[in-house]
Amino acid sequence: MGEGSMQFDPDVTVASPSRVYDYWLGGSFNFAVDRELGDRMIAIDPTIVPMVRDNRSFLRRAVTWLCEHDVTQFLDLGSGIPTVGNVHEVAARLRPEAKVAYVDCEPVAVTMSTRLLEGNPNATITHADLRDWQTVLAAPTVAGLLDFNRPIAVLALSVLQYFDEAANPAETIAHYRRALVPGSYLGITHISADEAGVDMVGLAEATRKAAVSAHLRTREQVMRLFGDAQLVPPGLVRVGEWNPQPGAPAAVPGIFGGLGRVP
Ligand SMILES: C[S@@+](CC[C@H](N)C(=O)[O-])C[C@H]1O[C@@H](n2cnc3c(N)ncnc32)[C@H](O)[C@@H]1O
Repeated sequence: MGEGSMQFDPDVTVASPSRVYDYWLGGSFNFAVDRELGDRMIAIDPTIVPMVRDNRSFLRRAVTWLCEHDVTQFLDLGSGIPTVGNVHEVAARLRPEAKVAYVDCEPVAVTMSTRLLEGNPNATITHADLRDWQTVLAAPTVAGLLDFNRPIAVLALSVLQYFDEAANPAETIAHYRRALVPGSYLGITHISADEAGVDMVGLAEATRKAAVSAHLRTREQVMRLFGDAQLVPPGLVRVGEWNPQPGAPAAVPGIFGGLGRVP
């Protein structure tokens, strides 16, 4: 089930976050302008590709952890272009009844998600700006799929960096958090300003000409995005250090992640 009504007419003159991200993950929904920015960013910091792969791997482990803790409803904000190991695929393997509402503001992400979710009664895609929390929470594709009287995991993975402090992402997340019952979770990953050895400032600078630019946050600032949600062990750490699989490669610096339980 998906929205399906939107036209797919991508602007191929300006790099888009979801398409650059898709390029780094080895996907095929990207254009020259995206690859050019993606390569420029890799030249500034070659760890960017392992970093985004670590981020996707965090998503898989976090969704698995949530399913194992009886959370079977997910609201994935800034879900991106579907790639291997999407939330609904990871969740359905453990809990076939799991429901997943994806939200993204980019046409390419919405179009590809709509196609992927065709005929799936347990997953939807909503075309919306996540800052428009009232629209998102009231959308039939969200309110009609998820039961807000039961725990829901709200995921904002590698997306809040597109908002500067003036946009107040902590306040946006707080609006979603207020819609959740106790025992729900917030999952956040975010690029970090205080990791030595990674030119995160150069990376943020390089994105200035893209459709949206990335903003760095310190670990402390990322922590504040969780509000009153209580971080489960091991807390807010490099994404590769969050409950890693035995024998996993060393965590790449530059991106933090955690899961917080709504009290
Ligand atoms: C780097 S990708 C992350 C994708 C996925 N969450 C992950 O971690 O693998 C960021 C996604 O956030 C989306 N995005 C950026 N700003 C957004 C906004 N204001 N509302 C909804 N989605 C947004 C982009 O379109 C893009 O698909």
